[in-house]
Amino acid sequence: MRIVLFGPPGAGKGTQAKLLAKRLQLAHISTGELLRAVIKAETEVGKVAQSYIKQGKLVPSKIVRVLAENTIADNQHDQFILDGYPRTMEQAEWLTAFLNKNQANPFVVVSLVVPDEFIVKRLSQRRINNDTGETYHLTFNPPPAEVDPTLIIQREDDKPEAILSRLREYHGRTEPVKEYYMSHGNFREVDGVGGVEEVYGRILEVLHSAVPA
Ligand code: AP5
Repeated sequence: MRIVLFGPPGAGKGTQAKLLAKRLQLAHISTGELLRAVIKAETEVGKVAQSYIKQGKLVPSKIVRVLAENTIADNQHDQFILDGYPRTMEQAEWLTAFLNKNQANPFVVVSLVVPDEFIVKRLSQRRINNDTGETYHLTFNPPPAEVDPTLIIQREDDKPEAILSRLREYHGRTEPVKEYYMSHGNFREVDGVGGVEEVYGRILEVLHSAVPA
């Protein structure tokens, strides 16, 4: 199976993609994580990416192409879940062309629906472990006491101005991708409001109906 997990920033894509990848034995390809890895490694590409990400802007497609599209193409005989890709029409068109050439597995787009007011609450209270990348939420999923508190940080793009800018980018540049999939693909919407397990159950249900075993 090949899944695009689609949704606004903070919709829970990363949280759900990890659970689904484990259960369905899929490669989890997160463009955000690929970008954060090159930023941490302080590469030239990482420095350019960081300047966009900290302002809440999408990274230029030529950078995403090198990282994400090569990773997707490397996995072409496998099954995967894409988290944070595609986010522009240019990226969606690349993916369509890629899938048309490699039609082996069923393809489904699952779109998490979460209103902006929930997004702001989720992202402003998100914290991550700077070593492992593990994600927490100060209210819903606080970091365990045994984790060194100095490792727990707030992502630069989870500061209030960057959150607003990410939402603007989403509504302006990424929502057209959703409209494209609504008319072109195996597209399913899922209510992303509710507990993690509840949303996970809803996604499994739509996957079952979209791709019967
Ligand atoms: P990326 O890391 O992909 O950021 P994002 O899409 O903005 O998504 P997030 O990671 O912020 O949120 P999420 O939906 O994964 O939610 P999460 O599960 O963490 O990308 C970062 C940046 O890189 C982008 O802004 C852009 O600049 C660049 N980029 C990435 N891909 C790109 C591309 N293709 N093209 C160009 N640029 C690109 O959950 C959020 C919080 O909510 C957590 O605290 C979590 O614990 C909590 N939570 C999760 N589920 C629930 C729930 N059900 N109830 C309550 N709380 C919940």
